[in-house]
Amino acid sequence: MTDSTLILGQTLAFDGNPFAEGPRAARHNVRGGVLLRDGRIAQVGDGAELRASNPQATVIDHGQSLISAGFVDAHAHYPQTAIIASWGKRLIDWLNSYTFPEEARFADPDHAADIAGRYLDLLLAHGTTTVASYCTIHSTSVDAFFSAAQARWMRAAAGKTCMDRNAPDNLRDTAQSAYDDSKMLLNRWHGVDRLSYVITPRFSPTSTPGQLSALGMLWAEHPDCLMQTHLSEQLDEIEWVKSLYPQSRDYLDTYEAHGLLGARGLYGHAIHLAPRERERLIETGAALIHCPTSNTFIGSGLFDMAGLVGQGARVGLATDTGGGSSFSMLRSMAAAYEIGQLRGNALHPAQLWWLATAGSAQAMHMGDMIGNLLPGAEADLTVIDLASTPAIAQRAARADDLWEALFPTIMMGDDRAIAATYVAGRPVPRTNG
Ligand code: GUN
Ligand code: ZN
Repeated sequence: MTDSTLILGQTLAFDGNPFAEGPRAARHNVRGGVLLRDGRIAQVGDGAELRASNPQATVIDHGQSLISAGFVDAHAHYPQTAIIASWGKRLIDWLNSYTFPEEARFADPDHAADIAGRYLDLLLAHGTTTVASYCTIHSTSVDAFFSAAQARWMRAAAGKTCMDRNAPDNLRDTAQSAYDDSKMLLNRWHGVDRLSYVITPRFSPTSTPGQLSALGMLWAEHPDCLMQTHLSEQLDEIEWVKSLYPQSRDYLDTYEAHGLLGARGLYGHAIHLAPRERERLIETGAALIHCPTSNTFIGSGLFDMAGLVGQGARVGLATDTGGGSSFSMLRSMAAAYEIGQLRGNALHPAQLWWLATAGSAQAMHMGDMIGNLLPGAEADLTVIDLASTPAIAQRAARADDLWEALFPTIMMGDDRAIAATYVAGRPVPRTNG
């Protein structure tokens, strides 16, 4: 029999979707256990029973800490790691002042490797085990990212960011080279170990219609791939898109007309949507990726979570590092809660936690592999210390149920709340102190 590991603690899983069923969609066990074997979750249940029925298993006891699926960050830009928290600009200025100069540095494979490793270690320290990341226009940046994820045995998704206009000379490709390089990288990395290639036009302002069409064709040739882009983040951006694509009905139509709208599409931000855009996104099963710390940090607007989910939209949650101001999905949950409050809808902690795990995994069409504590799923886990700072501990000590115990960590927690992270059943060594 192969080796197995039994980890003990409180456990949190989801039997259903808390947006449909409320908090009863969650399954909480105060003295739970998760049996790990061959990189997968073999069983989830009562800790003492699992211990009795698996006497040969190595036991790791996390005490009162909460064992959850690892966080899934459905939209991030790893190349922006070193410019996170850059002051004072709105989207277009922020891209020109901070983002493009930093992204230009990724022509250097050593810089790309350095940041990719740093970024993934930061993610793991924050309890995030899967990410969908943009790279830069350089193939080297994609190789660096996937090599770093492969070395950590992470399930990760990424792609070459394509731009053939409205970007500096050293950050532009062409319609043809974007197609050729994306295809080469897709063939090199897609389906290798736990890695997936994502076709990645940055957004309509930085692509010609010809480039969008070329990438739409590539997606049609590889329909099992995800496609990621940005949609309706800021009002000036939408006006710019209108002037660049005068024939389009709306921003979404610039993608739709070029074969870039589909169920495996991840549309970052999606804040200022017209009724037609909402309907088409929902009809096609596309995923809208909420990036709340970014939306407040760059001043973009308030995502309509309640309205969109109510209409049946598929929604995931993300940091959008480094437009987002944090690497932490806890911080992203807190910001999603605050934006919900500003729109008059208090998201329940069960909904926030589901978005950061199962919801994002489903948005990435990976819900059968990651994002939940289910037998057969891959054993990517995060273990949460519910009393990681004195301020959190004193509030959690008064809690009457799991949600009251967890909410102070959602609102005030950071990487200190991550007691352990497991990737494919193995504890991740701490590299960030
Ligand atoms: N829109 C196009 N590119 C970007 C980016 O890098 N970050 C954010 N937040 N929005 C974008
Ligand atoms: Zn983004």
